[in-house]
Amino acid sequence: MERTVLPFESPMLRQVAAPVTAFGTDELRALVADMFDTMRSGRGVGLAAPQIGIGQRIVVLEFPGGERAPGEAPVPPTALINPVITSGDGAVEDIEGCFSVPGKRGYVTRHSRISYRAYDVDGNEIGGEARGFHARIIQHEVDHLNGVLYVDIANRTEPWDRTTTQIRE
Ligand code: NI
Repeated sequence: MERTVLPFESPMLRQVAAPVTAFGTDELRALVADMFDTMRSGRGVGLAAPQIGIGQRIVVLEFPGGERAPGEAPVPPTALINPVITSGDGAVEDIEGCFSVPGKRGYVTRHSRISYRAYDVDGNEIGGEARGFHARIIQHEVDHLNGVLYVDIANRTEPWDRTTTQIRE
C-alpha cells in the first residue's frame, strides 16, 4: 500500500531515527512492503522510513537500470534495517533528487565506494561493498535516517521539473 510522503517542512525529516529492535514481525514486513510500493509508485530508487513518517532506521532501494543512471549496474530490491556505513573512499559529484524535496535537484559529492552493514527484515546480517550509483543511493538514504537531506550538502541545486525527468531518492 502506497503511503503519503511527508512534506519538506516536516520535523520528522530532521530527526535521528531510532534503531529497529523487533525483527521478523508482520508489522515490519508490512512496513517494508509499503515502502517499496511508495518508492515504485513515485519511480524512485530509494526511500527511507522517516519520509513516510516512521522514525525508524529502515531504507529500501531498487534500481532496475536505465535512464536514471546510464551505464550504472542495476540494484536489486533491497531493504536495509539499521544500516551503517563503515568506510568510504573516492569522491564523485552526481545529480540527486529526493521525494522530500520536490521541484529541485542537486549536485552532491559522495564516496564512490563504501562498505556497509545492515540487517534484513528477519534480523540476518547483510552488507558488503557498494560502488557508483548503488553507493550513492545508500549514502543518500542513510543521511535521511540522521535527519540530513541532500540539499544540506549539495554543491548546488537547481529547479527541476519532475514531470519530464524522474530522479528521486
Ligand atoms: Ni531522499
